[in-house]
Amino acid sequence: MKGEARRYIILFGAQGSGKGTQARLLQDRFGIPQVATGDLFRDNLKEQTDLGRMAKAYMERGELVPDEVTNAMVQERLSRPDAQAGAILDGYPRNLNQARALDEMLAGWGAQVTQAIYIEVSEAELLRRLTGRRVCRECQATYHVVFNPPQQEAVCDRCGGPLYQRDDDKDEAAIRRRLEIYMQETLPVIDYYRQRGLLSTIDGEASIEEVNRAIVAAIVDRRTP
Ligand code: AP5
Repeated sequence: MKGEARRYIILFGAQGSGKGTQARLLQDRFGIPQVATGDLFRDNLKEQTDLGRMAKAYMERGELVPDEVTNAMVQERLSRPDAQAGAILDGYPRNLNQARALDEMLAGWGAQVTQAIYIEVSEAELLRRLTGRRVCRECQATYHVVFNPPQQEAVCDRCGGPLYQRDDDKDEAAIRRRLEIYMQETLPVIDYYRQRGLLSTIDGEASIEEVNRAIVAAIVDRRTP
């Protein structure tokens, strides 16, 4: 991977803060793909690959899949042709070990993280969002039964695929476990990028459109070789 200028933008935020929703809007706008580790694991689960089978138990418990597996999966995804101009990283890195692995991976390609966006949302709002979330089985587009319903019930507006409720969204104990892990492991990663002057913080409690406008306004034209 060398040549053209690239941008690697990381989206941070607790589970339900709207990373996936915003990453999909940003990929359309900036022409670089969303790389969402949760979606990659769910794709593997659907295809019943060894990776999917291995990740399943961790995901059901709301725990992190081991770093070596996650880092290798991200490296493979970022090496694909559609990610040659960069990517919007959603759900990765999630701990300091992954953040350092990402730095090394990008350094190996002569590149670096260009920006990190932190979408801040209160815990009460997160629980409301996660319990009402519905996801398209085909294209992974995200909806909410109240805040962002599809035009036709249980059918994806984008591709017509069926909508479903993720198993880890049905179990309130698993949701709380994910939020706990987020506090312990992911908040230090946010500081890691803040200290490097790469972090912009966005109020995530406005409407989807308003949050999107704020993120687009915060994104600077910073590229990496
Ligand atoms: P992952 O898929 O990343 O799930 P998550 O961490 O729970 O994050 P979410 O996808 O739930 O939140 P989101 O911020 O994308 O919210 P969304 O846009 O959908 O990971 C799942 C599992 O995979 C993990 O638990 C772990 O096991 C494993 N995993 C993943 N990455 C890993 C890694 N790096 N290392 C190790 N393991 C890993 O929005 C939520 C809802 O709110 C939607 O219904 C949406 O419509 C609605 N909404 C969004 N924005 C707004 C708004 N502004 N107003 C009102 N409603 C809104």
